Amino acid sequence: MRFPPGFVWGTATSSHQVEGGNDNNDWWDWEQGEERIRDGTRSGEACGWWAGRAEDDLAEAARRGQTAHRLSLEWSRLEPREGKWNDEAFARYTRLLDAMRELGLAAMVTLNHFTLPRWVARRGSWLDPSLSRLFARYASECARRFDDRVKWWATLNEPSVLAFMGYAGRRWPPGRGSMPAAFRALRHMARAHRGAHRAIHRVLAPASVGVVMNWPRFEASRSSLLDRAVTRAQDALFGALPLRAFQPFDWLGLNYYGRYRVRFDARAPEMLFGRHVQASSIRTDETDWGEIAPEGLEEQLVRLAHLGVPLYVTENGVSDEDDRIRPDYLVGHVAAVHRAIERGADVRGYFHWSLIDNFEWAEGWSVRFGLIAVNPHTQERRVRSKSAGIYQQICMQDSVAK
Ligand code: FCB
Repeated sequence: MRFPPGFVWGTATSSHQVEGGNDNNDWWDWEQGEERIRDGTRSGEACGWWAGRAEDDLAEAARRGQTAHRLSLEWSRLEPREGKWNDEAFARYTRLLDAMRELGLAAMVTLNHFTLPRWVARRGSWLDPSLSRLFARYASECARRFDDRVKWWATLNEPSVLAFMGYAGRRWPPGRGSMPAAFRALRHMARAHRGAHRAIHRVLAPASVGVVMNWPRFEASRSSLLDRAVTRAQDALFGALPLRAFQPFDWLGLNYYGRYRVRFDARAPEMLFGRHVQASSIRTDETDWGEIAPEGLEEQLVRLAHLGVPLYVTENGVSDEDDRIRPDYLVGHVAAVHRAIERGADVRGYFHWSLIDNFEWAEGWSVRFGLIAVNPHTQERRVRSKSAGIYQQICMQDSVAK
């Protein structure tokens, strides 16, 4: 299966998960609380990217044939206090983006990947209606300073997931546990996206500004009417609803991990009354990212084709410390992308999650998504040679064997 010329191959990371020392945001504070992180760990020094390890890891990515990298900017570093820009932080990211250019890695930059500056959290996080204005100002400052070092701008990462985990649920900050709050947050995020889209285009011409959504495959676990109804509701919350609310976007990023089987459960209002019951026993590193189902990635991409904008798979991966499942997962999903292209989806690139093991939010360090393993205590790296080798081949040959 050959990919079209110019197809982009990369990996993805996010600031808080890899940089280390991000002690001025809402996640840092959240991590200090009791029993919030499954394995009791904290982001701490993470992968040491801020201190200087980013360049080495990215050099390894480039050596292995990757042509792009998706990373995110940490708002709490760039604007540590409301309206105060931190020139040193801008300079650090500028150095990093310049290094990437030198390495031949095109930059896809997410302006906000979940974490909010502490001063924003104090104002009510995404429940604060004025956040969209502040976010647009931040976006326009980034556009002005980073300019053409960025090839693709993404405003927000997975708004529906954040609304679910931190506003409908209590597993992530701000831990509201209220469905109306989740919808309000989502509405404010959509407004923030639109404002940032406008702001970046005002500063830069041309610019390519998109948004990144997580849209798993949802399937009713039984054929009952109720199961099917809640399945449709969940599918809409992650698909149709944000797709409408976040217009316009110049490109769309799809994060896809797997398939969920949904069963009606009157006791799960925070899940829109749909509990996830996995039929298969494939559970990797004990995470709940659904069942492994590459055909779901193909379907979601085909369902997005009508939007008429370029599509990117901005995250796809599996937690698998021992690298037993990842090789097949990788080949299966890249092949699914190819089938989607054959069926008319305008997919321009694939970013594997992740280049390196990193701090996985409420799961801490208990799950391992990296093509390269990281020991957070020693900062030692070890290439997971089987899947890293397969991905290198895919990147270098622009193709995958069926
Ligand atoms: C996605 C997130 C990313 C990482 C992966 C495993 O939902 O965007 O930060 O946590 O899952």
